[in-house]
Amino acid sequence: MSELIAEKSATIANLLAAYEGESNAHAKYDFFAAKADAEGWLGAASLFRAAARAEQLHAANHARVIKQLGSEAHCEIRAVEVKSTLENLKEALAGEQYEVETMYPDFIAEASGIDVGPARRTFTWAMEAEKTHARLFQEAIGLVELRLKTSWVGFARPFYVCAACGYTTETPEEQARCPVCNLALDKFEVIR
Ligand SMILES: [Fe+2]
Ligand SMILES: [Fe+2]
Repeated sequence: MSELIAEKSATIANLLAAYEGESNAHAKYDFFAAKADAEGWLGAASLFRAAARAEQLHAANHARVIKQLGSEAHCEIRAVEVKSTLENLKEALAGEQYEVETMYPDFIAEASGIDVGPARRTFTWAMEAEKTHARLFQEAIGLVELRLKTSWVGFARPFYVCAACGYTTETPEEQARCPVCNLALDKFEVIR
């Protein structure tokens, strides 16, 4: 019995850490979007806004599970240091890579018990969505490095964000349902 409680509290601690990470990423990407707009990287700004919305969905999903497990979501939002859009994209990519390669795999491995299934699911959904952000940030970095304002990073454009798991894509026509959580495509949010 005490082992069960110990496992649950480790999972809750991880959920709180993930909630804090997602909440801060959401806040940070909003600032990065404003900077990208100011520098004329309008497509990068669209991407930051789409990713910000996805991180907000992740935070809300984590908060729901924290509540189910008998605790309350809370966190501190740190001050954001805004640099050039190229540097901001690199920082965003590093954050996504940490979540995809280290944080979420560790949290998923910890949440192995039957009683923390919802935690495993919210971690997995977020990790899969962060992979889409990492890919898109990587692509944007290459284009901004080449100063290619005639490519997609130079123009405001739509991104499609799954309203359930935050999966983010620029090509929704490739699938009828979310490949991560199976939500129908017509429930995706269009973020520009
Ligand atoms: Fe992300
Ligand atoms: Fe989804």
